[in-house]
Amino acid sequence: MDHFSYRQGALSAEEVPLAEVAAAYGTPCYVYSRATIERHFHAFDRAVGDHPHLICYAVKANSNLAVLNLLARLGSGFDIVSGGELARVIQAGGDPGKVVFSGVGKTADEMRQALQAGIYCFNVESEAELERLNEVAGAMGLKAPVSLRINPDVDAGTHPYISTGLKENKFGIAMARAEQVFQRAASLPNLQVKGADCHIGSQLTTLPPFIDALDRLLALVDRLAELGIVLSHLDVGGGLGVRYDEESPPLPDEYARALREHLGNRPLTLILEPGRAIMANAGVLLTEVAYLKTGEDRHFAIVDAAMNDLIRPSLYSAWQAIIPVEPRDGPHQTYDVVGPVCETGDFLGKGRELCIEPGDLLAVRSSGAYGFTMASNYNSRPRAAEVMVDGDAHHLIRARETVEQLWQGESLLP
Ligand code: LLP
Repeated sequence: MDHFSYRQGALSAEEVPLAEVAAAYGTPCYVYSRATIERHFHAFDRAVGDHPHLICYAVKANSNLAVLNLLARLGSGFDIVSGGELARVIQAGGDPGKVVFSGVGKTADEMRQALQAGIYCFNVESEAELERLNEVAGAMGLKAPVSLRINPDVDAGTHPYISTGLKENKFGIAMARAEQVFQRAASLPNLQVKGADCHIGSQLTTLPPFIDALDRLLALVDRLAELGIVLSHLDVGGGLGVRYDEESPPLPDEYARALREHLGNRPLTLILEPGRAIMANAGVLLTEVAYLKTGEDRHFAIVDAAMNDLIRPSLYSAWQAIIPVEPRDGPHQTYDVVGPVCETGDFLGKGRELCIEPGDLLAVRSSGAYGFTMASNYNSRPRAAEVMVDGDAHHLIRARETVEQLWQGESLLP
């Protein structure tokens, strides 16, 4: 459930009409709801209940400092994939002691930065990375806490670009080599083996792939114990899907109940890395209709947001609802909702039934995750503003970029 709804005919975030946000900050503009973010975090946290656990919000979904800070205040940990994300977490007041560091290509510098900060665990993705981390930690006189990311070879049944747990994907260590790599890790002097992890993909809408992966990991945990390698935590990654259209993904409650059942009485701390499920439906992208245009065989609504602001429709053929901020009465037309960028792939939605005029505001729903974080400056378009609504108040949490910022750091030849 989220806190975007029509109030007296005006689409609002919590108690603030979105038209008021557009008037204050312009468009395109991302608008998030604090109450929704908090509700979703609590849903996960409560779902796991009294079993020892840590929710490590996946920073890549939305890394605005205000978002990270809200989650940090609720006690969230963070799943990061770069030194930049670690710096954001620290800047936002997050606890490095609750950070897990995922990703296949961590550099030695990033390892040093994370060791210095005292993160909770490195989710190591290859044997080569294990050796590198051992060297880096040794040179600093430290022991690096590690988990090994295992690729369980499970089909997540999601878009191929966001499916990560199959043999052919670049992620994790093959299950067939898992015991050997754990034994190697346990023998290295500057590593401390803490756990195992997996992440099989994103926007999963059914439980079986999660459970299948978990069971394979638990079998591994049991085999490792027989070898004398006792793990203290199991990190099941993120990936729980959200409702964009007609999907009905399991709720955090159902998901966590299934995890706990399969975990049985093993004394493993459970780590979860949700990103999308916390943020997607906590945000909309607000855009204004610039022109209506009738082509030879279809109508176009040209809006002021584009693929550089929200790339999901172009990149994954993702469907996100596009709804009017102040609905009109009248005949609806079928529109392709497109942006100003010079690419045919620049669309936010196709074949949408709308009754609109130039100057109207539209909201692209479910844009809180993988929206702003994937934005670019393509076509030299400054990135959109970000606003957080909190009850009846709205706060600018990132100013719209200026054109001068577009060439910041560039220089002419002498
Ligand atoms: N943990 C790891 C190791 C991940 O790679 C990811 C996402 C997550 C957690 C969070 O997954 P979530 O709970 O958000 O599904 N840009 C794509 C999604 C890419 C997800 C990448 N990894 C999209 O817009 O659909």
